[in-house]
Amino acid sequence: MTIAVDGFSSGGKSTFARAIARRLGYVFIDSGAMYRAVTLWALRHGLGGNGHGDTLDEKALIRSLGDIRVELRPDGRVWLDRDDVTGAIRSLEVSGLVSRVSSIGAVREHLVALQRAMGREGGVVMDGRDIGTVVFPEADLKIFLTADPAVRARRRYDELRAAGQDVSLDEIERNIRERDHHDQTREISPLRQASDAVVLDNSTMTLAEQMAWVEDRL
Ligand code: DC
Repeated sequence: MTIAVDGFSSGGKSTFARAIARRLGYVFIDSGAMYRAVTLWALRHGLGGNGHGDTLDEKALIRSLGDIRVELRPDGRVWLDRDDVTGAIRSLEVSGLVSRVSSIGAVREHLVALQRAMGREGGVVMDGRDIGTVVFPEADLKIFLTADPAVRARRRYDELRAAGQDVSLDEIERNIRERDHHDQTREISPLRQASDAVVLDNSTMTLAEQMAWVEDRL
C-alpha cells in the first residue's frame, strides 16, 4: 500500500505517519524534510535568508538543484551532502524561508520526482502537503490531518524548547499562521484536501487515539 498523510505545518503529521509506518513495517518518508534540506542548502550557500524569507536567489537555487544531495536515511536521520542536518533543518531560519523555496516550480518538480522514485515499490507512508493530490494521486489511503493553530504552535514550541532553542510562543504561532496562509494560497500544488481523503482533527487526540482511529482503515 501507499499511504499519504497531508496537512498543515506542525500538525503532528510526521509523528503520526512514522507510527503508521512502524505499525505496518513500511518506510516513512518526510517530504517536508526534503524541502527543508534544500532551504538549508540555499542558506548555507548564501542564496538567501534574513530571517523573514524575503531574500532568495531563485535562479541560482534552480541552477544548483542537481548538486544538492538530500538523503533520508533508514534510521530517520536527514543528510545534506556530507552533514547530518536532522536538527539544523528545524531551525526558525529554515522555517522562515522554506515556504518560499517550496513555492518554486522547479524545486517541486525535482523533489516530487525523487519522492515518486522513493515510493515506486509501495510500502511507504509519506507525509507532506501535496502527497495525496500530486505525488501519489493513486494512494490507497489518504489522510488529511488538521489541528487548531494555537495547539500546533504549542507543540512546536515544546519541541524546539526541548531541543534547546530559545524561541517565543508568539513568534512560532505567527510563523505557523504565515505558513498556513502561504501553503494554501501558493500557485503551484497548494495545500488542499484530496477529494478522496479522510479528515482527522487531532487537536485533542493523543497519538494512541490517532492510531486507534487509523487501525480500522488499514
Ligand atoms: O511539514 P514541514 O513543516 O516540515 O514542511 C516544511 C515546508 O515545506 C512547509 O512550509 C511546506 C513545504 N512542503 C511542501 O510544500 N510540500 C510538501 N510535500 C511538504 C512540505
